[in-house]
Amino acid sequence: MEESNDQRYAVHRSWRSPFTVIERAEGIYLYDDQGNRYIDGAAGSSVVVNIGHGVQSVVEAMYEQSKKVCFAAPHLFTNQAQIELSTLIAERAPGEMRGNCRTWLGTTGTDAVDSSIRVARQYFLAKGQPSKYVVIARWQGFHGNNIFVSGVHGHSSRRKSYFPMFVNMPHIPPAYCYRCPFELTYPGCRLKCARELETMINQTGEENVAAFIAEPVVGAALGAVPAPEGYFEVIRDICDRRNVLFIADEVMTGWGRVGHWFGIEGWGVTPDIIATAKGMSSGYAPIAATIAREAIWQAIQDTKVPFLAGHTMNQNPVSCAGAIAAFHYVEEHDLVRKSEENGAFLLARLKGLVDEFEIVGDARGMGMMCGIEFVKDKETKEPFDPKLKVSSRYELECLNRGLSLFMCSGCVEGVAGDMILITPPLVITREQIDDLIRIMQDALQALQKELVQ
Ligand SMILES: Cc1ncc(COP(=O)(O)O)c(C=O)c1O
Repeated sequence: MEESNDQRYAVHRSWRSPFTVIERAEGIYLYDDQGNRYIDGAAGSSVVVNIGHGVQSVVEAMYEQSKKVCFAAPHLFTNQAQIELSTLIAERAPGEMRGNCRTWLGTTGTDAVDSSIRVARQYFLAKGQPSKYVVIARWQGFHGNNIFVSGVHGHSSRRKSYFPMFVNMPHIPPAYCYRCPFELTYPGCRLKCARELETMINQTGEENVAAFIAEPVVGAALGAVPAPEGYFEVIRDICDRRNVLFIADEVMTGWGRVGHWFGIEGWGVTPDIIATAKGMSSGYAPIAATIAREAIWQAIQDTKVPFLAGHTMNQNPVSCAGAIAAFHYVEEHDLVRKSEENGAFLLARLKGLVDEFEIVGDARGMGMMCGIEFVKDKETKEPFDPKLKVSSRYELECLNRGLSLFMCSGCVEGVAGDMILITPPLVITREQIDDLIRIMQDALQALQKELVQ
């Protein structure tokens, strides 16, 4: 095929034109067709390429699988890669789920969340409790991008366009200590943000509530904010007492990203259902998983009604082979531990930027999932006017200097607030983290000059 950069017929994620063409990638670096090199500080968009780019063992595993079979119709067949991957997941699942769960394989994070909610719904139908359908989520939490899930997540700007088209599920305030929605301080707050779940269950009616969904570390909607210590213990207790299933959205936080195989392990809590994707195959092929406790699947199985979330591309053998090889790479290179240790190093460097720059109000994160938040005034935490588009300008300043990051906005009640995610591949070294920070400093200097008169 002759190479051409006529982009007229392609729709991109923004209207910036022409879009940069990435020609190849290796380790933490991306290379475009003009010979420019970028540090992939987002590991894809975002927290995808955990093992780094160009890992040959993953490519070869997919190639070997392709030679055997690329597609086996999931309504009639399974394949060896699906069986092996589901077993690996059961062996690594957190807490009480370990060896005590089954996995449904899909293609995207949205799909995994949608399927998790279907599991919860089908479970309560199986239990003879058909009134239970409501899913409680949190404001400034993100769970995916189809129209149904837009009614569940709490990322205001991503819901707006579809508002008349979805079922609007209830939301409780986020666990966001930097801007506590209750103007309280941890631990004196006694985790009011978690206790709000019980208030919402009371108001909605326990007989109507099927599930509560939350990200252990909020990604796109808050810019890498981990829940405070104790938060998920309170959530677990409420869900147990009120007959509500707890869905952990580990689309971002799974697969070693935050220093554990699954982020929720950081709180020592076992969810009922886990939705995960992104880092699962490190982006080498589309794949996602819905993992639920054995008792939940068994209750559904007892009804003899199959699980009703089927899509054509479920359990794709080539994707499964990629995920298995990526899993082994993480294990063989000790990347879960490296994520924790080098993530702490990265976060310390980002906290240095808070001291150094007037416009950086906060740095936060867990493992190799970090973020900074921009503020107009550090004392009052006043955000910038959203019209200034601070986070997307910063994203571009970094890109122009050879660093790709992931911008986010809306941490202030969905209408203001600028953040940027810094989530490089887990294979990044400390020297490379220093390079990344130098580019961030340079870009911050330029942006601060424009914003602060
Ligand atoms: C926490 C979380 N859940 C779900 C999704 C949806 O995943 P996908 O974009 O693969 O559909 C995302 C995407 O960013 C996410 O961050």
